Amino acid sequence: MYSARRIALGLLAAAAVAHAADAASDVTQLNKETFEDFIKTNDLVLAEFFAPWCGHCKALAPEYEEAATQLKDKNIKLAKVDCTEESELCQSYGVEGYPTLKVFRGPENITPYGGQRKAASITSYMIKQSLPAVSVLTSETLEDFKGTDKVVVVAYIDASDKTNNETFTKAAESLRDSFPFGASNDAALAEAEGVTAPAIVLYKQFDEGKAVFTEKFEDEAIKSFVKVASTPLIGEVGPDTYSSYMSAGIPLAYIFSETAEERKELGDALKPLAEKYKGKINFATIDAKAFGAHAGNLNLPTDKFPSFAIQETVKNQKFPFSVEKEITLEAITSFVEDFDAGKIEPSVKSEPIPETQEGPVTVVVGKSYEDIVLDDTKDVLIEFYAPWCGHCKALAPKYETLASLYGESEWKDKVVIAKIDATTNDVPDEIQGFPTIKLYPAGAKSNPVDYSGSRTIEDLIKFVKENGKYGAEVSEKAEEETPVAPAASSSSSSSSGSGDGGSTSTSTSSEAAKASDVHDEL
Ligand SMILES: *[C@@H]1O[C@H](CO)[C@@H](O)[C@H](O)[C@H]1NC(C)=O
Repeated sequence: MYSARRIALGLLAAAAVAHAADAASDVTQLNKETFEDFIKTNDLVLAEFFAPWCGHCKALAPEYEEAATQLKDKNIKLAKVDCTEESELCQSYGVEGYPTLKVFRGPENITPYGGQRKAASITSYMIKQSLPAVSVLTSETLEDFKGTDKVVVVAYIDASDKTNNETFTKAAESLRDSFPFGASNDAALAEAEGVTAPAIVLYKQFDEGKAVFTEKFEDEAIKSFVKVASTPLIGEVGPDTYSSYMSAGIPLAYIFSETAEERKELGDALKPLAEKYKGKINFATIDAKAFGAHAGNLNLPTDKFPSFAIQETVKNQKFPFSVEKEITLEAITSFVEDFDAGKIEPSVKSEPIPETQEGPVTVVVGKSYEDIVLDDTKDVLIEFYAPWCGHCKALAPKYETLASLYGESEWKDKVVIAKIDATTNDVPDEIQGFPTIKLYPAGAKSNPVDYSGSRTIEDLIKFVKENGKYGAEVSEKAEEETPVAPAASSSSSSSSGSGDGGSTSTSTSSEAAKASDVHDEL
């Protein structure tokens, strides 16, 4: 049996070799015998940890091959490890999902691969990794260097100026995954480029072609210069750029349009405005065919384009431009000026504020959220629900009982039991599932407490008592007088209330519903 196994393994190994040879691959397949040696003898290696059955791995394979071939003569090696055969090796590198890509500079220096899984991205990412964070440039190499990427950053520093050299190098280290950085101490070259040391020039293959930094060299100032100057005047919002726009710390103005021609046309029309607000408001087009649903997040219709909106990215406020009006430089200029002057109210999606509160539970809408939930004199328990959510329906009768108990108690002016339909009203909180229940204690509105207990009246009372300012407790006695049977039976016919506090989306499997029935106390 032992020898049979050896033969089988031998066959597998031979098959693997034959396969690799067939494809004439530039990707080196490694195992636990060869891995260590390979990363010791090659200065820069990108390793993919994969499983043969994994779909994303299959999609990556041809891209990975192509990148390996392109990087071959740059002495950057691409390797792969089959984790179904080398589980120990994969575990030792903390691989948790497939594919996992890691950059190795020797066995000690390992960083996650931060690019996209496309040949071009892999190639450009790894070339950047292979360069020192700052390349030393001369009059011979500068022009070539400018061509290495859409944006490159070059410092002109005196040979004796150690302080500025260090400051620039530090900033470059932290941005090395995004841009190539270079430096020169050739005064004549600086002059030819129109600057005097110390200065930084950001060369870009779009817009005005370059931007110059002549302020005092400081880490933050350099980084923010690079961030602003490298952002195209009119960029494009997409999966690659969205998060950097959201973290830019300044508002983003979206130009939604369904065709590339129209996006170009509108972008060109608004360029003077984008120029004027550069560094203050980012402007970008967005493909409404692919990402039209995003218009809804900005309180714009999702079926009427072109359209325009500004998002205040820090406070997450939305300022949609009326789709009834035409997008012209003039109209958008006055809209943006008003926005900048604080003259436009953010758009809040909201149902009308109810004229009277019908039931025991206080109904909150987008427009009354601040007045009710953030009322600093009251402990407010609020449920974020969706009309289609089964667990929310199951909770409803219990929640009403809870509201009645407080409403008829000595605490009626101190404790509010509220609910908001989070599908038809903007809420400032991020809601992960329905129902979400939070307590906003009086005097501590910026520190809401998430409810994660079971959805029983008893536990909800305990939660309000323990986390609210007033320690308000009511007795559950009245509950026995409330007929609950009809509610309970209707809830078990749809999906049922959860006893363990787990939130859910639309559908609940019948098993889960049964399991939570067990915990359901009403
Ligand atoms: C910056 O300092 C490094 C290390 O001392 C040196 O190699 C490099 O040439 C300096 N850069 C310039 C532009 O003088």
